[in-house]
Amino acid sequence: MMVDDIARVYFTEEELKEKVKELGRELSREYAGKHPIFVSVLKGSFVFMADLMREVDIYCDVDFMTVSSYGSGTTTTGAVKIIKDLSYNIEGRHLIIIEDILDSGVTLSYLKNYLNMRDPASIKICTLLDKPARRKADIMADYVGFICPDEFIVGYGLDYDEKYRNLPYIGVLKPEVYTK
Ligand code: IMP
Ligand code: MG
Repeated sequence: MMVDDIARVYFTEEELKEKVKELGRELSREYAGKHPIFVSVLKGSFVFMADLMREVDIYCDVDFMTVSSYGSGTTTTGAVKIIKDLSYNIEGRHLIIIEDILDSGVTLSYLKNYLNMRDPASIKICTLLDKPARRKADIMADYVGFICPDEFIVGYGLDYDEKYRNLPYIGVLKPEVYTK
């Protein structure tokens, strides 16, 4: 079974739920009357996005983007490919970019500049997890769920080889999983 691949749980379902509630309350306060667009960066953020939206008690729109970094892994060219762009005209709108994890920051830094060229009223970043130790781009999130250690984690939208996104909590894989 999938859960047998998990070595250790980092954030339990209850902890995630509580944190998402907190973030939802904060966004509801700060965006009251502003009708923001929640921009989910696929695929990793879809679970967080779905839960977060339901903790927000204001009018909001949702939209989705798919991006991929060129030459994945260690390269730092900063080039990001837009696979699926937004469907809305965002000029004059308040955007909240929803991410699963802010790692090197290369993707989000590119995305923020890219969207900024369309003159939105504001752009903020809300990430469930932040790995500040790994940052390469000069970017910070405006709303952070948890600071997490420099380890590869899966679950709650985060994948390894496209698997484990459906795990309801966040954890670390057993080392042998990588050599399967
Ligand atoms: P970056 O900030 O441009 O390096 O890209 C962050 C993206 O890398 C995230 O949206 C995830 O898809 C992926 N990522 C980074 N760290 C992890 C991890 O620990 N587990 C799973 N995916 C990760
Ligand atoms: Mg991702």
